[in-house]
Amino acid sequence: MRKKIVAGNWKCNTTVQEGIELAKAVNELVAKEGNKNVVVVLGTPFTHLTSVVASVDASRIGVASQNCAAEAKGAFTGEVSAAMVKSTGAGYVILGHSERREYYNETSETLNKKVALSFANGLTPIYCCGEPLSIREAGTQNGFVKTQLDETIFNLSAEEFLKLVIAYEPIWAIGTGVTASTQQAQDMLAYIRSLIADKFGAAVAEETSILYGGSCNAKNAAELFSQPDIDGGLIGGASLKAEDFIQIINGF
Ligand code: 13P
Repeated sequence: MRKKIVAGNWKCNTTVQEGIELAKAVNELVAKEGNKNVVVVLGTPFTHLTSVVASVDASRIGVASQNCAAEAKGAFTGEVSAAMVKSTGAGYVILGHSERREYYNETSETLNKKVALSFANGLTPIYCCGEPLSIREAGTQNGFVKTQLDETIFNLSAEEFLKLVIAYEPIWAIGTGVTASTQQAQDMLAYIRSLIADKFGAAVAEETSILYGGSCNAKNAAELFSQPDIDGGLIGGASLKAEDFIQIINGF
C-alpha cells in the first residue's frame, strides 16, 4: 500500500542551532503522539542535514535536502552533490520546487540530471510540480502539469518511478494563505494518478504517494488528507512550528 507522508520544507529558514531545536521538538512530539502510519520527513537547508539527522529517531523521521547539484562532482563552486547529501545520512531530496524553477531557472533538463543523480546515490526524490496563477485562471492546469511530468519523471522506468514521491504544489497557493480547495487538490491529484496509470499501469499508480502542498496547515490538513488521492502534504510555513507540524502529521 502506498505511504502516507508529511514532509516539512523549511526553505531558507533557521540557523543550524534553531534547526536542531526544531528537529528535536518535532522528534519529541512524534515519539509521544505522532501517528505511526505517517512517514515524517524534515527538509532542511544543506548546512543542517548532518545535525538534524543526528537529532531525530531515524526509524520515525527521515531527512531531506531541498535540492542537489545537477553534476556528480567537480569544479562547480557552491554546489552540493547528491552523494554529499547522501553522506549526511539524509534519505530524501526535494527536487523541482517551484521556487527553484522560478528563481534559479531550473529546467526539465536540469531536473532530469538531478533525479538521475539522486537515484544513483540512493536518495528518494520528492518531485514537485504545479502551475502558476495565470495557468489556473486560464483553466489549463492539467495540461501544464502533464507537460512538467512528461518532460521529466515520466521518462523513468517503472522500477525507478516507484521509488519517488510526487508533490503537487500550485504556485498560487504557496505561502499565500490561499489553499487550493479540497476539491481542487483532490481533482489534480486524481488526474496525476490517472496519468501515472496511463503511463506505467494501474498498479504503479496505486503505489505512488502524491502529496499536496500550498498553505497546508494545522487547520486544513485533516480535510485535505481525507481525500482518496491525497497521500499527505509538503508543508512550508507550518513546518517551522513543531506544534503545528505535529497536528498536520496527525491530520490523518
Ligand atoms: P507553504 O506551506 O508555506 O505555503 O509552502 C508550501 C511549499 O512550498 C512547500 O514546499
